[in-house]
Amino acid sequence: MAKHMSKRHTPETLAFTDGKLVLIDQTRLPQELVNLTCSTVNETHDAIKRLVVRGAPAIGIAAAYGVCLAAAPTQASRQDYLDAADHLATSRPTAVNLFWALDRMKAVIEATDDDSVLHENLVNEATKIHDEDREMCKNIGRNGASLLCESKCVLTHCNAGGLATSMWGTALAPIYHCHQQGQTIEVFADETRPLLQGGRLTAWELSQAGIPVTVLTDSMAGSLLRSGKIDAVIVGADRIAANGDVANKIGTYPLAVLARHHSVPFYVAAPSSTFDLNLADGSGIPIEERSRDEVAEPHGICVVPPDANVMNPAFDVTPAALIDSIITERGLIPQPNRTKVTAHLS
Ligand code: MRU
Repeated sequence: MAKHMSKRHTPETLAFTDGKLVLIDQTRLPQELVNLTCSTVNETHDAIKRLVVRGAPAIGIAAAYGVCLAAAPTQASRQDYLDAADHLATSRPTAVNLFWALDRMKAVIEATDDDSVLHENLVNEATKIHDEDREMCKNIGRNGASLLCESKCVLTHCNAGGLATSMWGTALAPIYHCHQQGQTIEVFADETRPLLQGGRLTAWELSQAGIPVTVLTDSMAGSLLRSGKIDAVIVGADRIAANGDVANKIGTYPLAVLARHHSVPFYVAAPSSTFDLNLADGSGIPIEERSRDEVAEPHGICVVPPDANVMNPAFDVTPAALIDSIITERGLIPQPNRTKVTAHLS
């Protein structure tokens, strides 16, 4: 059996140390690798909103630790923790992992009768969510590698790597797995306008791991796919509806259309915590609209005249029919549909 992935190439994306949440500040990469420490719920909320920590699984883990920061361990009341969870739930709307993790924290608050152990129980639950995510990513890596074992060149969008999770990532986990097994594999990364998660983050973490990576502008993906160079496209997800429709970073949907047109397999990698079985299909997924400045004033330089309107949805929805397989920690869902998704998760 293939060996599991072992060494990590980058520092911890997030850690709970001495009662504080320490995050790699992803807004500063790749220029500098620095941490940002959150000591309060408001600081955690702000870090999630500003994308200091981002990527669906990492948002969920950060929010879980954020609940523990409601007040000093001996002073916080049950209501303080519940208020913290409610406040953190307003930080970003699309990634369901945020609400999934906060629901787990709320369940611990409800289930703990003895207030003197409430803080300890909450830290334990957040740590469990964090540890489980590491395992899920490893297993996604192993399961996804079975689809990429013949691939030499893979295209991805945004960042669904170690920086977006506890470790290894979702879409990048199979690539790390193949690389560690000695397979020659090269990644093409869409830069991912407007916040450049592909150019800044995916290229950074793959470079740290010694995996060859080429960054392209988003609009180049069509001609690259047409050239026949790309063997597979693999992306992450922020929320997957019961029928297999997938919300992910804006630009994922056109990539799926292009991949289908050029007969290149299109894979989505995500843990079971990213599924939202309460939504029948992708039309109900709330799509975050971010600020005008991200598009109109990148790096503080005005690139759009003030009178022009700007659209800045952070995510789009890819219909299940365009997805060749969803990869989870449990296995594969080929040609996903409602029946297969339900069976896979039950
Ligand atoms: O706005 P972001 O950077 O949080 O968007 C992240 C993505 O779209 C990722 O592809 C998704 O969260 C999966 S991360 C494993």
